[in-house]
Amino acid sequence: MDRYAVFGHPVGHSKSPQIHAAFAAQTGQSLSYEAIDAPPNGFAAALRGFVDQGGRGCNVTVPFKDEAYRLADRCDALARQAQAANTLRVEPGGRLAGFNTDGVGLLRDLTQNLGLALAGRRVLLVGAGGAAAGIVGPLLAAGIAELVIVNRTPQRAGDLARRFAAHGPVRASALQAPGSGFDLVLNATAAGLDGRAPDLPVAVFSPETVAYDLVYGPAAGPFLALARQAGAGACHDGLGMLVEQAAEAFWLWRGVRPATAPVIAALRGV
Ligand code: ATR
Repeated sequence: MDRYAVFGHPVGHSKSPQIHAAFAAQTGQSLSYEAIDAPPNGFAAALRGFVDQGGRGCNVTVPFKDEAYRLADRCDALARQAQAANTLRVEPGGRLAGFNTDGVGLLRDLTQNLGLALAGRRVLLVGAGGAAAGIVGPLLAAGIAELVIVNRTPQRAGDLARRFAAHGPVRASALQAPGSGFDLVLNATAAGLDGRAPDLPVAVFSPETVAYDLVYGPAAGPFLALARQAGAGACHDGLGMLVEQAAEAFWLWRGVRPATAPVIAALRGV
């Protein structure tokens, strides 16, 4: 049976094993998928052990996406843009191909599952870490009118905007004064993991605004509560993005595209 895994720290609560088991059952693919908790300084060794034991591919989550990018022998354009890889595929000879499917996953959830048209929209991106870096390129490629990046540490927002300046209309702004009239506000900060919302003014939200947190479950709660109180028209967590990025990884590994809607519905318990 072909072996796959997700590496992270911590990774115990990851829904990826459940998602990939559902994809495998649905498509009739014979594979196993496990969660591997690697110690903070032990990702490279754990990955090598996995490959030596016949592992065929893996997902990589916090905090190892940057290291996965560096360890890969070659990376696709999206991983190179983000300088982070969330998916590795073991090639003949044990070489590693790196991919970043986060941006594709987000765009599929926004456009196909939630029915948002992105072309011509004004988008506010809150956060400038690895999660944010993975989605800037795909958002700009979707033809949005403007991407404003804000971050608690302003310099990182400026650096990220400069890195993508050649890819489309992107600029950095101050977290406390990013402007108003946004069609979409994306939270890519880790604040929710500490039970906090980023320190945004309520003016960024209006009844026309869709608020979206890249994380799912309770960690998305603080930002979505802020958005709801501030009058955002719709609020979504990142469960759909998680399933969509997994589907893209499954396709890269197996050459088969699973249906995502039933898996999202099952995870939501509907
Ligand atoms: P990830 O890969 O999850 O993006 P990261 O690269 O460490 O992880 O980035 C975390 C992001 O969450 C950063 O934008 C960080 O802001 P700083 O650059 O100022 O550190 C943001 N963040 C974390 N805690 C936050 C908080 N309490 N309020 C606002 N932003 C926060």
